[in-house]
Amino acid sequence: MNVLGIDIGGSGIKGAPVDTSIGALLADRRRIDTPQPSTPDAVVATAASIVRFFSWEGPVGVAVPSVVQGGIAKTAANVDSQWIGAPGEELLSAAMGRPVVLLNDADAAGLAEIRFGAGRGEAGVVLMVTFGTGIGSGLFVDGKLVPNTELGHLEMHGMDAEHYAAGRIQEEDGMSYDDWGDRVNEYLNYLHRLFWPDLIIAGGGISKEWDAWSGRLSVPTRVVPAELRNDAGIVGAAVAAVSG
Ligand code: BGC
Repeated sequence: MNVLGIDIGGSGIKGAPVDTSIGALLADRRRIDTPQPSTPDAVVATAASIVRFFSWEGPVGVAVPSVVQGGIAKTAANVDSQWIGAPGEELLSAAMGRPVVLLNDADAAGLAEIRFGAGRGEAGVVLMVTFGTGIGSGLFVDGKLVPNTELGHLEMHGMDAEHYAAGRIQEEDGMSYDDWGDRVNEYLNYLHRLFWPDLIIAGGGISKEWDAWSGRLSVPTRVVPAELRNDAGIVGAAVAAVSG
């Protein structure tokens, strides 16, 4: 089935129609800067403009950088705090005039990788970790998602892990890939000690530079780069809308 997937991030809102049977985009994605402040009203209006851009009349799946329970956003680390408690699914659905499924962005990215990418056919415990504006996590047990893990907020060196090792930190602080890779190594070893996953999939924007920093990794768990790269959130949001 074809579904419009939309991935809302701290810096950009991206969307494209997706063939959910093969996990492929059916058109170039449309990207719009995330409005600032990134209030629910402003973000919902931008997301709805993507629906109009594609003249989309089918189902829509939307990923957000928040814990989502029952269609309601419960946290907001990298978007405006008005998202906390906002009925995101309902607001999006009203603005788009069609049913919408809302879920966490890293959960969405993980769904895409499990179905079509680096986690295909993997049994056991698989942990998707996205390194972008923040750090997101998606935990899967035998292919089934345990939603809303927030492992970017584990504490490291007295701060949120995402303030220590997100992709944004490398960019903004102009860190070398070696130094940043060492931080990611430390973080992934921490995750290993807590969860003993069978596989860790590293995603997010910076996974494109995998060759530049993965040499720093020395983790007892197998770590592989995401295969859908930056499209994972879009594809996973679309997949979530048709898999209930
Ligand atoms: C948020 C998560 C999100 C991650 C990646 C974190 O700050 O708390 O919900 O998945 O950023 O966007």
